[in-house]
Amino acid sequence: MDRASSALLRDLEPVVEENLNRHLATAKEWFPHEYVPWSSGRDFDGVLGGQAWEPEHSTLSDVARTALVVNLLTEDNLPSYHHEIAVLFGRDGAWGTWVHRWTAEEGRHGTAIRDYLLTTRAVDPIALERARMTHMSAGFANAHPDSALHGIAYVAFQELATRVSHRNTGRESGDPICEQLLARVALDENLHMIFYRTMLKAAFELAPDDTMQAIRDVVRDFQMPGHGIENFARKSVQIAVAGIYDLRLHHDEVIGPILRALQVFDRGGLSGEGELAREDLAAYMADLDKSASRFTERRDANRQRARTAA
Ligand SMILES: [Fe+2]
Ligand SMILES: [Fe+2]
Repeated sequence: MDRASSALLRDLEPVVEENLNRHLATAKEWFPHEYVPWSSGRDFDGVLGGQAWEPEHSTLSDVARTALVVNLLTEDNLPSYHHEIAVLFGRDGAWGTWVHRWTAEEGRHGTAIRDYLLTTRAVDPIALERARMTHMSAGFANAHPDSALHGIAYVAFQELATRVSHRNTGRESGDPICEQLLARVALDENLHMIFYRTMLKAAFELAPDDTMQAIRDVVRDFQMPGHGIENFARKSVQIAVAGIYDLRLHHDEVIGPILRALQVFDRGGLSGEGELAREDLAAYMADLDKSASRFTERRDANRQRARTAA
């Protein structure tokens, strides 16, 4: 980690402490087991000699299954995420307490979603386990391992992206039990986003030009945390076509709101590089908006055609 990052993390420590306390006061305790319809479950074949999984057992649409598996595999990589943020933010003091608490909260997400999927026989359990092994074996690496600012900026956007993705996956499932579970998970992700967004805001006060550049870099190169999942490109197209996570949502509900909350386009105190980064960011957002509109227009036209053909 570079020296500027160590200094910044130290300067942010009191803000971390204050917001950690606020987080602990706001986050409500919840129990994954309460969200799983255990009575729908039965033994599988193999060791217990139960019934093998068959596609007809699943009541979910193809795309809902894809999105649930992507969301679960994303959550499954928690050991790698923990490693990355523990190395970056440290394991001591308020940062360390946050890192461990965050990890503990994230640990519920994968547990709850897996229990739901297996109990309801929503997905092929063997394919799921193989995909988990492949995905976790590849690990996850922070794109900017040396920069605390880039790390904070990435997690702020990533938490909100994950929130939107969970919430819309729940809606797409058409199962009120699934929707309820994913809405609960999405609530956690929202509180995580608020914590990191608050850190970014504080960083703006301490190092405005560097913060603007980090946000520019992270927004421009943004990739979902699960981008290393096998066939991710194909799966993410399917997810976008269903409107679970697409460029329009990415622009309107993820990047846009955080930039607005941070008053990125209205703040003073920038010089040279910072001002340049803000211009890059504005140009990037305009392009993203155009691409998002092109995508939704094409999608609307395809849906219209499909309706006419039906
Ligand atoms: Fe999560
Ligand atoms: Fe989270």
